[in-house]
Amino acid sequence: MRGWQKDNLLKYTSPTPKIIILGVGIFIGAGFLKGIEYVSNNLYQLLGKDYSVDFEKYITILFTIGTAIVVIAFIENIVRSDRRKIKYIVRKRLCASRMGNPLHLIEGEIEPDIYVNNIDSGFVIRVECQSAKFDDVANLETVISDCLRKRFGNYAVIAKEEDIAGRYVDYYIEDVIKNYNKQSVYKTISDIPSISTKIYIREDVYIDYTKVLNSSAIVSGKSRSGKTTAIISTFLLPILKQGRDKFGSKVVIVDPKSAELSQCPYVLSPRENGDVEHILKAIKGFNNLRIKRQKFINKAADEDGKARKWFEIGMKPCILFLDEFVSIQDMFPKKASKEKPEYCLAEFQGMLRQIATQGASAGCFLILSTAEASVGTGGLETAVNNACGIRILFKPSKEEARFLWDSSKLEILRERQFLAGDAWFSADDGTNNNIKFVKFPRIEFGEYKALSDLLNKYYSNNRQRKDFT
Ligand SMILES: Nc1ncnc2c1ncn2[C@@H]1O[C@H](COP(=O)(O)OP(=O)(O)OP(=O)(O)O)[C@@H](O)[C@H]1O
Ligand SMILES: [Mg+2]
Repeated sequence: MRGWQKDNLLKYTSPTPKIIILGVGIFIGAGFLKGIEYVSNNLYQLLGKDYSVDFEKYITILFTIGTAIVVIAFIENIVRSDRRKIKYIVRKRLCASRMGNPLHLIEGEIEPDIYVNNIDSGFVIRVECQSAKFDDVANLETVISDCLRKRFGNYAVIAKEEDIAGRYVDYYIEDVIKNYNKQSVYKTISDIPSISTKIYIREDVYIDYTKVLNSSAIVSGKSRSGKTTAIISTFLLPILKQGRDKFGSKVVIVDPKSAELSQCPYVLSPRENGDVEHILKAIKGFNNLRIKRQKFINKAADEDGKARKWFEIGMKPCILFLDEFVSIQDMFPKKASKEKPEYCLAEFQGMLRQIATQGASAGCFLILSTAEASVGTGGLETAVNNACGIRILFKPSKEEARFLWDSSKLEILRERQFLAGDAWFSADDGTNNNIKFVKFPRIEFGEYKALSDLLNKYYSNNRQRKDFT
């Protein structure tokens, strides 16, 4: 283990200047020999001695070695991998005392170890430091983002992960400029990717239903920020495009605002008098379907002797989408009447709890949208909130984001001038656990017309397996 040295100017530079200095040293050595040769021969001549020295051979050797070393320095610089380049940049920033010593190292202390690895979206930089305080090691996001210059100038830290045992911190960096503007554009319905277990936000960003732990979703964002459009483009159209499975799959959409969505067939809205009993009935129907599907999965597992997943036996996702769900909650009677003992808010909330917490294993997912994150999460039961492993905030601000994510996870995010469809999102699927910025797809065709057509087509198929009872 190496000790940190405060005044060692060369120690923390990349190999190039070190190798060049070595080459230049050898040139100086060759020049020195030439000088000795010149002075000695002149002296001998002056003293009238018939004697001379000839260092030509050694000088040629030294000159050749010096030239080779300088050439090697340049070649090393050119062929050096990006990983190593980043490692040297970060190491210099963290260790060279003239750069500010952000880890507050003391002379002779153990130096930090820095490892850089390639990942799909960029690089991950691991900083291990036994002598520095963990808080210092865990607060380097700005330092790392700032020190990346020239060809890495567009790179910045987008996420960090702290080792639970406090041994190291991983900083994820990526080209934020290139990725910032990436967006899928769907010109026709056939452009929309439709795979039953994957929800595509961008070609290279998707949520994997087979891996996500809590697969219900909470989608938040101010009015006109792109919530409904995003749910249509990433969840509803792709799932409807797959058609119905033979296990009675359903896509239930509730629009309490009776806005654009309510113009589509099979979309439920409150009656003119504010009654929402039919919505409760539909949600109960969805929950009953969930129970039926779960029973079928359990039966299949018993027959096979091993646990089966919904997607392994040909089931497709079922979706219950409640747009602006806070408004729906407000429409339910707080207390049930004697005539209709089940028509009340508690019954509605109980259904949501069951679907959110137990639906995933039967491929039944809840999507909730809310204009105000504070009201949305405030109005959600803890069990439902925790079951929402997919979290999306449109036109985000840190203030709102605090209602969806732990504040410590928000440190590295930057607020900008966001457009409709711009969001911070995370999913607990192992790939998207860190909150990241993403642009949701832009649709260049009538999404509500496409939704209507697909809903009609979807529900025209009612074939079920004989053994699905
Ligand atoms: N991904 C996107 N790319 C480009 N423009 C978008 C995107 N998503 C939405 N928009 C634009 O923003 C407008 C508002 O979108 P949308 O209705 O989905 O927002 P919302 O958050 O559901 O709003 P509301 O609070 O009114 O329900 C759309 O009419 C569309 O023009
Ligand atoms: Mg909307």
